Amino acid sequence: MTQPESVSAEQFGADFYQNPLAYFARMREERPVTPAVLPNGGRAWLVTRYADVRAALADPRLHKDWRKMAPPDWESDPVNGYLSVHLLNADPPDHTRLRKLVTKAFTARRVAGLRPRVEAITAALLDAIEARLAAGEETVDLIEALAFPLPVTVICELLGIPLRDQDQFRAWSNAVVSSEGEPGSFRAAGLAMFNYFTSLVAAKRANPADDMVSALIAASDSGDSLDERELISMLFLLLIAGHETTTNLIASGTLALLTNPAELARLRSEPARLPGAVDELLRFVNPLNHATERFTLEPVEIGGVTIPAREWVLCATASANHDSGRFPAADRLDVGRDAAGHVAFGHGIHFCLGAPLARLEGEVAFGALLSRFPSLSLAADPASLRWRPSSLIHGLETLPVRFA
Ligand code: HEM
Repeated sequence: MTQPESVSAEQFGADFYQNPLAYFARMREERPVTPAVLPNGGRAWLVTRYADVRAALADPRLHKDWRKMAPPDWESDPVNGYLSVHLLNADPPDHTRLRKLVTKAFTARRVAGLRPRVEAITAALLDAIEARLAAGEETVDLIEALAFPLPVTVICELLGIPLRDQDQFRAWSNAVVSSEGEPGSFRAAGLAMFNYFTSLVAAKRANPADDMVSALIAASDSGDSLDERELISMLFLLLIAGHETTTNLIASGTLALLTNPAELARLRSEPARLPGAVDELLRFVNPLNHATERFTLEPVEIGGVTIPAREWVLCATASANHDSGRFPAADRLDVGRDAAGHVAFGHGIHFCLGAPLARLEGEVAFGALLSRFPSLSLAADPASLRWRPSSLIHGLETLPVRFA
């Protein structure tokens, strides 16, 4: 067993953002469970092999409730106390109680009912692209035109958030998930979102509608199911989780298909492969580099290495999905592959609540894009594309494409 004291930390440079898989490939080989210093200076233990990642994600000794780790005054801060008491920072029994409140809205059956609406939103966005092309534009940023507005519109409609606020949300949520922002920008964005949700809840409380915000307010007002801080945190999580990731599935997935023309042609000629291909794209592109933080309260052995008590642990799901021990020739995109078992949506009790919705949005977006634009192509050298400076989110800044 490796003693942590004797292990030097893996240092991540800013090039990690551009090519995280290169770091992970080396780490899987040389030091699959290791302390690391992230590009922004944060420290955590990284777990990179498939079997270890899957086991760690289901390990109850890896905790998520920050109150067990944070200083006592942590919760009195509005950004912490009102935005952070959500599912991803909760352990059972709180996690079980909170998750039950939202599970019904996101089951595969409920989500299947949203398909016509997701198709209509997608069609309208593609119509807008066609109008821009007709007006003489040659290249379009696919993120701005489709990959961002589709999931944001869907989650805003589900929650009952006015669409006119979506651009504002994009800026706030970018600041919240960025690892490299100005020191105050996370707090400023967090406070702005806290203020926004507080007034939204007040408005919906006065005038309830047929939406999830109103349903959660009713649950909150009816007794002990969730308090006001948990309500605001839930809205914050659903909004951020509901679009940051799916945007990157659509954009990075399109890039993966355009840079693997044989796979793109295969998918075009066999559209029935689309649902399976969405999972293969998730495995291949990984909208998240790693799951959200967990921490130890006692020494925990993972893959033969003992992680001491009170250490942060990151399960590198992107790395696990590229482990050739689990997925043969894992660095190859293969739209015919059975990608079941991938961990792009996590594993265990925190498995992505929105997985059916994300799959639906991916299927509709890729399906419509490929069938309506047979000449879709990249309008930039793939090597010149920039990835966002976030250790968690792996997503392109822009994706310039041509449609003719
Ligand atoms: C391609 C898109 C998506 C990806 C790759 C993704 C990925 C993930 C992952 C890896 C986790 C587990 C994190 C952890 O264990 O630390 C997670 C949890 C979660 N996701 Fe997603 N997600 C996506 C889309 C969505 C959407 C559309 C929603 C919509 C509401 C959503 C809501 C959530 C929530 C609420 C959780 C927390 C669940 C819990 O802690 O019980 N996600 N997601």
